[in-house]
Amino acid sequence: MAERTLILVKPDGVRRRLIGEVIARIEAKGLDITRMQMRTLDRETAERHYAEHVDKPFFAGLVDFITSGPLVALIVEGDDAVAATRQIMGATNPLEATPGSLRGDFATAIGENLVHGSDSPDNGEREIGIFFPPA
Ligand code: RTP
Ligand code: MG
Repeated sequence: MAERTLILVKPDGVRRRLIGEVIARIEAKGLDITRMQMRTLDRETAERHYAEHVDKPFFAGLVDFITSGPLVALIVEGDDAVAATRQIMGATNPLEATPGSLRGDFATAIGENLVHGSDSPDNGEREIGIFFPPA
């Protein structure tokens, strides 16, 4: 079923010049990139984006990291876009992500795992609203 998801190339991915690698894999999978934006998040926006994790012990560090430099936000569309992009990304912990996935191939640390992808279509729409609010 056609759906939308929000993908971020996190600040580590931008610093390591991996924007193109992430985009190439999304396109190779057969998904469409329909909006794209580069920006540095303020803390308030980062806290809204990761609101589900507010009570977790890693929350402050996660906000520090995601606001540490420019990121690239993408709206990705296609059949089962959430599951398809999560497959491309690999498991949250890069040491558990399979080789061939972005995190498996390019990351070692859970706190600097290169990419974000929405975990459900509903969360995708919520997150898209944060990065690409309706005019
Ligand atoms: P994301 O939201 O960034 O796409 O990652 P995810 O769905 O695979 O993982 P999630 O559970 O939503 O966690 C969000 C981000 O928090 C960091 N994290 N650190 N230290 C830890 O135990 C821990 N657990 C999660 C990761 O950077 C993860 O991407
Ligand atoms: Mg998540």
